[in-house]
Amino acid sequence: MRVFVTGATGFIGSATIRELIEAGHQVLGLARSDTAEAMLAAVGAEVHRGALDNLDSLRSGAAAADGVIHTAFVHDFSDFARACETDQRAIETLGAVLAGSDRPLVVASGTPALLPGHLVTEEDTADLNAPGAARLPRRSEETALSFSSRGVRASVVRLRRSVHGEGDQGFVPTLINIARTKGVSAYPGDGSQRWPAVHRKDAAHLFRLALESAPTGSRLHAVGDEGVPVREIAGVIGRRLGVPVVALPVEEAGSHFGFIGSIFSLDCPASSTLTQQRLGWHPVQPGLLADLDQEYYFKMALQNA
Ligand SMILES: NC(=O)c1ccc[n+]([C@@H]2O[C@H](COP(=O)([O-])OP(=O)(O)OC[C@H]3O[C@@H](n4cnc5c(N)ncnc54)[C@H](OP(=O)(O)O)[C@@H]3O)[C@@H](O)[C@H]2O)c1
Repeated sequence: MRVFVTGATGFIGSATIRELIEAGHQVLGLARSDTAEAMLAAVGAEVHRGALDNLDSLRSGAAAADGVIHTAFVHDFSDFARACETDQRAIETLGAVLAGSDRPLVVASGTPALLPGHLVTEEDTADLNAPGAARLPRRSEETALSFSSRGVRASVVRLRRSVHGEGDQGFVPTLINIARTKGVSAYPGDGSQRWPAVHRKDAAHLFRLALESAPTGSRLHAVGDEGVPVREIAGVIGRRLGVPVVALPVEEAGSHFGFIGSIFSLDCPASSTLTQQRLGWHPVQPGLLADLDQEYYFKMALQNA
């Protein structure tokens, strides 16, 4: 297939376009800068200049393709509502081009808001009683799946908590930097809270399978580890940095970890059993703890400190 990929230069999108090209697909990658253009050309992708807020560029990219994978997102947490609006408009634009054609649209989605402690499956949808649910403005999943009834083979790939691997700039490097700065590797409460994760290459493989064969309306879980206890994450970080690993009262998580404290405190396991059964996807890359033990995590965290 000729696949239009947004976010093709991102952490997950760049792994996805490699996966697509290795499997024999052609990639048309959205690029908004000369640097992005050079990155795409270097891996053998065609370049489509544009941006998420340039809707004509999204229309022409989708129109030129047999399918679309949307992984771009404006990760500006100072104006998250606006980032979510941009995302929603982009998905609506891409979906409208594909409507009536049965072509695939695969969209990266965040975590549905659910009550803590519940093992989230592909059958679960957002629980509006969950803490903070009403404030979550991201509607990638609902927007994408609304095109199922409009002749699009629409699916979403839910990425739960940490997508890890070389180049990760997310929560895990943040935790490493906090431990380095504070001189202790802490975990909230008894540290049994479960943190789901997936390796970026396994996630990329799932994006490809979704493009090729996911039935319309599929909610897919890119989950390799159902839930790693957070004290084990803190344990590897402490050992690698040579700092003590300590338990912290949950009430102090906010002051110790900043914005990540509430996330680190929540038990939010997730399953990918149904995804594995339905698409034959099986994570084969190292899990979070083995990956976190790699030298590159500690070099990367230093670079980003
Ligand atoms: N990584 C995780 O642990 C994780 C966890 C849960 C959910 N997710 C979701 O998975 C998706 C991919 O995440 P990621 O980690 O790969 O993100 P990322 O590394 O930050 O990449 C974001 C991509 O979006 C592009 N982009 C940003 N603003 C744009 C704009 N205005 N116009 C066009 N392109 C734009 C970036 O292009 P440039 O290269 O030009 O900046 C980049 O290719 C996102 O929806 C994210 O929220 C990720």
